[in-house]
Amino acid sequence: MSDTSQRFISPNPMPDEPVDPALRPVRLKDFIGQDQIRENLSILITAARQRNEPLEHVLFYGPPGLGKTTLAHVLANEMGVNIKITAGPAIEKAGDLAAILTNLKGGDILFIDEIHRLGKAIEEVLYPAMEDFALDIMIGKGPAARSIRLKLPRFTVIGATTRLALISAPLRARFGAVYRLDYYDVNAIEAILKRAASRLQMTVEPEGFREIAHRARGTPRVALRLLRRVRDFAQVRHQGLVTQAVAAEALNLLNVDPLGLDEVDRRVLSTIILKYNGGPVGLNTIAASIGEEPDTIMDVVEPYLLQLGFLDRTPQGRVATQRAYEHLSIPYPQTQSPNQPELF
Ligand SMILES: Nc1ncnc2c1ncn2[C@@H]1O[C@H](COP(=O)(O)OP(=O)(O)O)[C@@H](O)[C@H]1O
Ligand SMILES: [Mg+2]
Repeated sequence: MSDTSQRFISPNPMPDEPVDPALRPVRLKDFIGQDQIRENLSILITAARQRNEPLEHVLFYGPPGLGKTTLAHVLANEMGVNIKITAGPAIEKAGDLAAILTNLKGGDILFIDEIHRLGKAIEEVLYPAMEDFALDIMIGKGPAARSIRLKLPRFTVIGATTRLALISAPLRARFGAVYRLDYYDVNAIEAILKRAASRLQMTVEPEGFREIAHRARGTPRVALRLLRRVRDFAQVRHQGLVTQAVAAEALNLLNVDPLGLDEVDRRVLSTIILKYNGGPVGLNTIAASIGEEPDTIMDVVEPYLLQLGFLDRTPQGRVATQRAYEHLSIPYPQTQSPNQPELF
């Protein structure tokens, strides 16, 4: 298995990556892009404030690196409340969750990252906590066992997940608001880059921003990482000035192509095209062919290739589109290959 956390275009944080607090939006007005979500959140916040109530439970979903964790912090800042951070896999026993819940104060936010990875028994504790602000605890064992109900303060759960489909229906139903984060357009990524560059005191020409934005996969985390690498390159080789050519050279050197694809993306496409006649081919087969985890392909590679229109998802499997052939400079077969799915 290759270590995909080391990919420059990985939307997941890299092991030693700095989380620069100066670059992280603090208030809703600093948060760039996702206009519709921002507007909805602003209404949610104002309404809760006017009624003097805690926020409703909120669920964010979408690919990694788009701002789910950031928005959870923004909501806490806007509401002026504490945020307690945990993650699905970190809560191993029902007692762990009970301990967290009993420590919350009224209005506090409990942020549960990767909430799709909560165990079933934990979810059972979470349901009444979210719905009735109550904690049911079993006391004793066997026939003498009985359950007592503890009252909890009114608090807010903010959940984040990359896999909405893995969240059970009853859990999902307990969120008053569910928002899907989508990839950012190039203009929004450029605005994020400009804000970061000014805080990093970089000199970047407009075409330099554009070049980085086009290679950032519509993902702020990737954009900020590419910006840091371009900054190093410009500093060492070009007295710090970032032109379009400097940005392109720096990113080519990192094997990030003009559309933001790296080795792994290109290998997925060329495997489908060359080994499986363009598809359809199942995701697990692709993953096995190139020695990657199916989860990586599903979370990190496929969504961006779908977004670019390089892949189609059919019931029979993934199919490479003509644009994918063109991007890899492989001639597109004019006649339909026998592997192509039937229309009826
Ligand atoms: N809209 C945005 N504007 C500016 N920076 C952003 C925005 N969204 C995300 N970021 C930055 O991108 C990085 C990843 O965001 P994060 O909230 O951790 O993503 P997620 O939780 O969805 O994986 C963080 O460094 C964050 O500061
Ligand atoms: Mg996150």
